[in-house]
Amino acid sequence: MPKLIVVTRDGTETAVEADAGLTVMEAIRDNGFDELLALCGGCCSCATCHVHVDPAFQDKLPAMSADEDDLLDSSDDRNETSRLSCQVPFTDDLDGLKVRIAAED
Ligand code: FES
Repeated sequence: MPKLIVVTRDGTETAVEADAGLTVMEAIRDNGFDELLALCGGCCSCATCHVHVDPAFQDKLPAMSADEDDLLDSSDDRNETSRLSCQVPFTDDLDGLKVRIAAED
């Protein structure tokens, strides 16, 4: 199983293993990180699954849809590493991916 490193808002880093085939949001949520609200359950309509992705993995991520882009615009914590984690499938290719949970809006 690929490994995912989750950095919470207080800076704590935790490595977890998650099934490839989940989304990054599901991998974070299923490992008990309550900070990631993911209120819409992955429908790309809430932006509460916002994470910052390690730039080293940027090339391996799927392109951002216009909907994701629009939703991220509503976040004050948006920057060039921002993604909605429900829109990123977790794959073996992303083994070792580090994501930081974005500030709450
Ligand atoms: S869970 Fe709502 S946009 Fe990702």
